[in-house]
Amino acid sequence: MKPVFDDLYSDRASGMRASEIRELLKLTQRPDIISFAGGLPNPLAFPLGIIKELTQKVLDRYGEKALQYGTTEGLTSLREAFAENYNAHDIPCTPDEITIVGGSQQGLDLLSKIFLNPGDEVVVGDPTYLGGLAAFRAFQARFVAVPLDNDGMRVDLLEERLEKMRREGRKPKMVYVIPTFQNPTGTTLPTDRRKRLIDLVHEYDTVLVEDNPYGRLRYEGEPLKPIKYYDDPDDPRVIYLGTLSKTLVPGFRIATVVAPPEITRKLVIAKQSTDLCSTTFTQYIAAEYISGGYLDAHMRKIKTLYGGKRNIMLKAMDEFMPDGVEWTRPEGGMFLWTTLPEGCNTVEMFPKAVENKVAYVVGKAFYAYEGGERSMRINFSYPTDEQIMVGIERLAKVIEEEIKDKKAG
Ligand SMILES: Cc1ncc(COP(=O)(O)O)c(C=O)c1O
Repeated sequence: MKPVFDDLYSDRASGMRASEIRELLKLTQRPDIISFAGGLPNPLAFPLGIIKELTQKVLDRYGEKALQYGTTEGLTSLREAFAENYNAHDIPCTPDEITIVGGSQQGLDLLSKIFLNPGDEVVVGDPTYLGGLAAFRAFQARFVAVPLDNDGMRVDLLEERLEKMRREGRKPKMVYVIPTFQNPTGTTLPTDRRKRLIDLVHEYDTVLVEDNPYGRLRYEGEPLKPIKYYDDPDDPRVIYLGTLSKTLVPGFRIATVVAPPEITRKLVIAKQSTDLCSTTFTQYIAAEYISGGYLDAHMRKIKTLYGGKRNIMLKAMDEFMPDGVEWTRPEGGMFLWTTLPEGCNTVEMFPKAVENKVAYVVGKAFYAYEGGERSMRINFSYPTDEQIMVGIERLAKVIEEEIKDKKAG
């Protein structure tokens, strides 16, 4: 039957297609499969008791206000709590520069809404966060995809691209980076690259979107200052996205966009037509949580939980993976990026993995145009310790077969 609504859809919506990757991920929902495909926090890390207590407190103390519409920019006490917490963690900002959004995903959507015309170019890491690509694609962006190495985005190559674009009279609307424990690779940009990025966005007159959901999930090594720290206060170019999804709970849908005042004004207008305001109730609870000092204390618990899981996964990888397979050893975050030998293909291998009751995200999903055929992202925050050991052993067997097949073929 001919689809009835085709001629009604906008060009934007006509270009939206359910991806092949989403179809693959559906298979991973089967209960008998050990899935390393998700990017979910572990429910053991949810501070249910304190949330329960604070929920009661919010209802008792703020009752009707907490259940009413709120302002579009977000609850003042929450923006103040974030500003204090951010300043203590080298993210200089005032409450007025903060907009509360419904997850950093909404931040990416709103930034696209205010910056992107169809065909505009966005610089992204190659690979980068799938949801970032999806947000930019929904506004019909094109990508300038800059390769990564073990230290994140190749800033030297970025400079070459920007120079070439300038010669051709082109200018990217944004440079999108996940500087610390990047999704999907787990890589972290060193300080010199962070500073260079600031220079480049000034030199080529654009903005830098720093998406930092994993920065505080560090299990070893010294913390690095966010890119935002190095921004020029007289000519600010960094838009900083922070979220409570990985440090508290994703179900609150609370994140922040920290931006120069001029951009914040536009963002708030754009948000107004999207949802009027983010969920008031969870904003009140989050404000109590952060200003009560619970967040910083909770980070210690999360770090022990996830750091332990990362170690178990790295140990299992060392023990089971066949020769020729490489993986990152991130000091934090939630993911390892694994690359198989030449000739292997993680999309073709996927059904065999599912048959053997283990799943991952194919590397290809994270590339703007093409790449990642030999790679996969595997998550260690969600599965149980036992699932990690058993699942990696299963995955290693599937990979061993794939390598043998390719050699034979
Ligand atoms: C790099 C990155 N940005 C944004 C998000 C979305 O987070 P939120 O729950 O705050 O919308 C994620 C979630 O996995 C992510 O990995």
